[in-house]
Amino acid sequence: MSIALGFKTRILPVIVIDDAELAVPMAEALLEGGIDAMEITLRHACALDAIERVAKSVPAMVVGAGTLTRPADFGRVASAGGRFAVSPGLTPGLDAAARAVEMPFIPGVMTPSEAMFARELGYSLLKLFPAAQAGGLGMLKALASPFADLRFCPTGGVSAETLAEFLALPNVAMVGGSWLTPTKVVAARDWTSVAALARQATTIAASFS
Ligand code: 3PG
Repeated sequence: MSIALGFKTRILPVIVIDDAELAVPMAEALLEGGIDAMEITLRHACALDAIERVAKSVPAMVVGAGTLTRPADFGRVASAGGRFAVSPGLTPGLDAAARAVEMPFIPGVMTPSEAMFARELGYSLLKLFPAAQAGGLGMLKALASPFADLRFCPTGGVSAETLAEFLALPNVAMVGGSWLTPTKVVAARDWTSVAALARQATTIAASFS
């Protein structure tokens, strides 16, 4: 399974919105802050519409979908123009569906056995979810030695304060989270603050490149 994701950032904003009209200005704000990818989660009915709007209106933003939990989600995301997919887990059906639409896919794992299952299917970039509850930094350090060929995107409980510690780990390819788009900030359509949060994160990430 290809992991050519098509974006440069090591920060992956996890987006939860219930109004598709928020997606384009949010994408523009994230880009302004130096982040060229966003994961719009399939948690509200507007998610596919939001993905489609960003795909059509903000070509510099690599828009993908998150929270894919059913194989049928992949076809819908592909039709909307989503360019990658992220799931909190992995099943044979999700793997087959990702292959069918040839979509880069980051499956979620939480245990060594799940990591081994994902690796057997050909995945080498895995979402560690929920990262904090799975053991956070300690878990990632413990996974590094037996799984030297795997890279992780810890997501769940990461913040601007802990971002640097995660990015410093050799087996962390990127970090995901919702701290870049706080609910209240988005509700207020405060895109200046979203851009500032993105810039803060990309500045931290730049110190590791
Ligand atoms: C999620 O799927 O909701 C992500 O893990 C985001 O977690 P966070 O809100 O703790 O960043």
